[in-house]
Amino acid sequence: MTGARPGDAGPGPAEAAAQAAKQAADEVAAEAADDFRRMWRDLLPVGRNAATGGYRRHAWTPADADCRAWFEREARDRGLWYEADRNGNQWAWLGDPADGNAVVTGSHLDSVPDGGAYDGPLGVVSAFAAVDALRRRGAVAGRPLAVVNFTEEEGARFGVACLGSRLMTGVADPAAARALTDSGGVTLAEAMERAGHDPSALGRDDERLARVGVFVELHVEQGRRLAGTPHPVGVGSAIWPHGRWRLDFPGVADHAGTTLMEDRRDPMPGYAATVLAARESATRMGGLATFGRLRVAPNGTNAIASLVTAWLDCRAPDADTLEDLVAGIAAVAEAAGAEITAESGTPLVTFDRPLRVRLARILGGAPPLPTGAGHDAGVLASAVPTAMLFVRNPTGVSHSPHEHAEEADCLAGVSALTRVLTDLLADDPSEPAQCEPGPPGGS
Ligand code: GLV
Ligand code: MN
Ligand code: MN
Repeated sequence: MTGARPGDAGPGPAEAAAQAAKQAADEVAAEAADDFRRMWRDLLPVGRNAATGGYRRHAWTPADADCRAWFEREARDRGLWYEADRNGNQWAWLGDPADGNAVVTGSHLDSVPDGGAYDGPLGVVSAFAAVDALRRRGAVAGRPLAVVNFTEEEGARFGVACLGSRLMTGVADPAAARALTDSGGVTLAEAMERAGHDPSALGRDDERLARVGVFVELHVEQGRRLAGTPHPVGVGSAIWPHGRWRLDFPGVADHAGTTLMEDRRDPMPGYAATVLAARESATRMGGLATFGRLRVAPNGTNAIASLVTAWLDCRAPDADTLEDLVAGIAAVAEAAGAEITAESGTPLVTFDRPLRVRLARILGGAPPLPTGAGHDAGVLASAVPTAMLFVRNPTGVSHSPHEHAEEADCLAGVSALTRVLTDLLADDPSEPAQCEPGPPGGS
């Protein structure tokens, strides 16, 4: 015989509420599955290199144009109002942008060289899937809602990461941006013109920023803190300060087979010493230093190089450590005759505390995650209340064809984003959210 016996305690109110929340979350994920799969399938072949399996979706190239066409189609097919802003970022609006205090979500569609499928696109595809879920549930009244695709987030073509959001927020100078060149000497202005976009209007876009009440970027996790936990989704807490530097080591070209070792002015040993110093200092100081890109002139096996240009990517938990780390590496490079140019920098970002507390609560205690990776959300955080959701990555691998997230976790991400947007959209539009004042704390 079964049934409750006197004295059996059923689930308590908290447990019952958690069960109901989980069921609601699973329902949203199940309903979103078809939309998500179709969009993912459509986008998957775009810009994929058959030999490496990695993506080469660099800003203002034909692969990028295909991504942008995909975005525009997804927007128009949903009856959303589509526009590309003066900095080339794409927007899809539900509701009237002029009403202001909009809830904005999205990410980027460009990639690093041979990048993975998830870094960026997961946030854009999830954003459209969340819009569909919100509409199905009639949860779109209140504030305008937009999906955004920021251009050149990776800085893979023109060297400056988060260029679209930096230009929009006024962090990047438009004239300097127009003059940035790719590895073939094509300027950003030329590349935009060739792709049919006017580069003359680049720059700070206060009118657009004023429309944004809150920005939430969903992104694949780029580490493995969620692996092995019961949480498919975490809430971003902070982004380490980071930056990029170009190091030019000059030398004198000469014959590899006839120039005595003592007569050489070879820039390569100085570069090599700098790489080793960077690795040693970063390990010792708890930071990260990477030389992942190198240009050698004239690049001949049997010729001493006349110039080695290397790009340093450096990150650390706080600004002082980053400064010390870079200064130490620069000293070694300068002793080898190198000239050093800072190409971009991002200070420590601490995401809006009330907002991330709110997101964690909506998501039933999603864990906070700091990251060393840069994001458009980090740039927007200086201008509007901003938050991030991270979707579990089982291996933590990113910026690689091996980057992965399980479909069930991606759908849990769509569900989490939908619940977060539902909550934000229900806010009273007459009470815009406030940016958290005071110095960043980190977590
Ligand atoms: C962007 O992904 C970066 O952190 O470089
Ligand atoms: Mn990336
Ligand atoms: Mn990214």
